[in-house]
Amino acid sequence: MIYFDNSATTAPDERVLASFMEVNKRFFANPASLHAAGKEAEALLTRSREQIVSLLGAVKGEVIFTSGGTEANNLAIIGFAKKNSLRSKHIITTKVEHSSVLNAVAYLETQGFEVDYLSVNKQGLISVDELQAKLRKETNLVSIMHVNNEIGTIQPIAECARIIKENSRAVFHSDAVQSFGKLSISLGGEGPDAITISAHKINGIKGSGLLAVRQGLTPEAINFGGGQEQGIRSGTVSVPNAVALAKAMRISIQELPQKNFLHLRSRLVNFLKRFDNVVILAPEQAAPHITTIAFAEIKGEVAVNFFQENEIILSTSSACSSKNKSVGHVIEAIGLPEVYKKGVVRISLGTTTTEQQVMEFETVFTRFIQLLKRGKHNGME
Ligand SMILES: Cc1ncc(COP(=O)(O)O)c(C=O)c1O
Repeated sequence: MIYFDNSATTAPDERVLASFMEVNKRFFANPASLHAAGKEAEALLTRSREQIVSLLGAVKGEVIFTSGGTEANNLAIIGFAKKNSLRSKHIITTKVEHSSVLNAVAYLETQGFEVDYLSVNKQGLISVDELQAKLRKETNLVSIMHVNNEIGTIQPIAECARIIKENSRAVFHSDAVQSFGKLSISLGGEGPDAITISAHKINGIKGSGLLAVRQGLTPEAINFGGGQEQGIRSGTVSVPNAVALAKAMRISIQELPQKNFLHLRSRLVNFLKRFDNVVILAPEQAAPHITTIAFAEIKGEVAVNFFQENEIILSTSSACSSKNKSVGHVIEAIGLPEVYKKGVVRISLGTTTTEQQVMEFETVFTRFIQLLKRGKHNGME
């Protein structure tokens, strides 16, 4: 089986699994406990935090471990909005964020917050001029994702950070769930004030993620309990998850130069360009591991099923919205012409993808197009 749905989730790396198992066996004590075993677990947790901050290119910073990207995004959006609400209730985000950001800001709108949604061009790219125009000195929070999960668009995060810092007191949060390990991003300095990362997108363990924040900048708590994670995120901290996440992050960064995503993407794009009834979304603007295409007059599910019959796993769009039959908000935001709207298919490569696999994909793809031409597949069925 060829697995090209790595933006939905990745297979855990053996080395990450080994760390997770070892820490579970040897350091299972509660890191909040005062006994020696607890202290040992706490030391491991502290070391993981320090490693993560340094992997994010920062000298100092805080790491709040969460159950994944969704919770980290909720914590950043709701936690910072509430913390700074006396100053301002103005928030800026984009029309193409993941639902864990969009639904969190939608909740804030019901609580009296005012939200500006930045529009995007055909490639899913925001305009920094629009950001600058919408930004106010007192804006509470800006949240802009680094890489879009449906079409792969890379947003100009460093430029956004500079504009925000020069013109506003707003906290700048970026959802880096799809970008971390593929593109570089740094915390504080020239980067955002807060970054979301999810372990299962970088060959880590599912149900684990984090919000990293620059030093001295912490959100308000959005859940309540024993006051762990400096009172920001109550609940016993999973030391195995923290160690495994730090390890997955380290491996992603260290091994990034060996991954040939760029080469594979340009091969794929050059191949796909040859077909008239297929458009490539964000061809010049997407991250190297995500190539999203749309077929004219064919449902995405038809293509996905054909590929599955041929042992290649693709997805119609993001995993979270692929069961929802309506056209996704990202596809609407980029203004994809009507004939293509139902035919969106995402090809997302992973760390173990080989050129041979891409070649096999090309062969199956060509066969699919031939069948369509001969009318053997009624794409709209
Ligand atoms: C861009 C983006 N943000 C957030 C998330 C949510 O992460 P998690 O699955 O860890 O909750 C996802 C997952 O699909 C994502 O792609």
